[in-house]
Amino acid sequence: MHNIYEILPDIYWIGGSDRRLERFENMFPLPNGVAYNSYIIIDEKTAILDTVDSSISALYQSNIEHALGGRKLDFLVINHMEPDHCANIEEIVRRHPEVKIVGNQKTFQFIKQYYSLDMSSHYYEVKEGDELSLGKHKLRFYTAPMVHWPEVMFVYELTEGILFAADAFGSFGALAGNIFADEVDYDSSFLDEARRYYTNIVGRYGAQVQAAFKKLAGLKINMICSLHGHIWRGDNISYIMDKYDHWSRYEPEKKGVVMAYASMYGNTENVVNCLALKLAQRGVKDMRIYDVSKTHPSYIIADVFKYSNVVFASPTYNMHLYFPMDSLLRELAVLGIRNRKVSLIGNHTWASAAIKSMTEIVKTMKDIEIVGNPLDITSSLKPEQEAELDALADAISRSILN
Ligand code: FEO
Repeated sequence: MHNIYEILPDIYWIGGSDRRLERFENMFPLPNGVAYNSYIIIDEKTAILDTVDSSISALYQSNIEHALGGRKLDFLVINHMEPDHCANIEEIVRRHPEVKIVGNQKTFQFIKQYYSLDMSSHYYEVKEGDELSLGKHKLRFYTAPMVHWPEVMFVYELTEGILFAADAFGSFGALAGNIFADEVDYDSSFLDEARRYYTNIVGRYGAQVQAAFKKLAGLKINMICSLHGHIWRGDNISYIMDKYDHWSRYEPEKKGVVMAYASMYGNTENVVNCLALKLAQRGVKDMRIYDVSKTHPSYIIADVFKYSNVVFASPTYNMHLYFPMDSLLRELAVLGIRNRKVSLIGNHTWASAAIKSMTEIVKTMKDIEIVGNPLDITSSLKPEQEAELDALADAISRSILN
């Protein structure tokens, strides 16, 4: 049966959630599923804004038919051509042969790349600032390249002041009845997953997110409709805008330490545990410790974006780095993390390479301050090196508490 929600008069959420999918993009764990949002405006003309993933196509098509109530579909606006949103275009065109597909040049290039059916007779091309009137509701198109793909557009609906924001302001996590962010305890239940979604999926494109923000400055936005997660309205809009501003400028949200360690036999882990207690004794609060072999890197990456200080600790492996640590550091570099305070701990038994390798990767990141002298232990921490660990704890605590 259809499952739709009227978010404002004549504007409906027609999306759905998938709680079965193990990994988003076949990479990122989804312990609480994911929502794929789509919207329809019923006016003198009818318009759908983006489609959904193929996993919920059957429900989605039934939602569309119910919302249309026998009317024809005039427009299908495609803000984002990634398959988690564009999977239903061909089916909609088959069911609604009169529909115009609204997109830009890149949108249509990607439609041709993903679909075999020639849908070019349906194309309705728009450019930056173009407007499309549906009757009472008018849509204005803004390009938002690389938030998160090059074809991405934002649509601003002028009558109600709604921003249809493609992937932006979205989150991992299925919806549970409450569609609006102000209906849930967002801080405790969803913020971590929104951060993990942003940092891992869009994190590399901070400059492009900031550029999109500049375009939107001056618009009166009363509601933000993302393609994933909850809808934002009222005071909550400034809450999520502030988070996005921090994340896209690579500014930490909090002072605190994330410690990511690799450890084959527990000896490097022991150094990190000793350091954490020494930091706590010096008054440092809000520390996170992760085993890179155990915790999926997407969770560690999200916390590295959140906190001011990071400690990376790894043994030498094959005269380089233990490879889960190598891939974590390289992914952080790819995502453009910067402006962090980093401390390094290495471990080796006969030849030291971990600190050199970690330093080389960290040096490729911008605005990184190395805090304290890197500590290199041989096989296991011995009392003779406790003074060096104390000195590192002093340096890290000073950098946080000052
Ligand atoms: Fe949710 Fe970039 O797709």
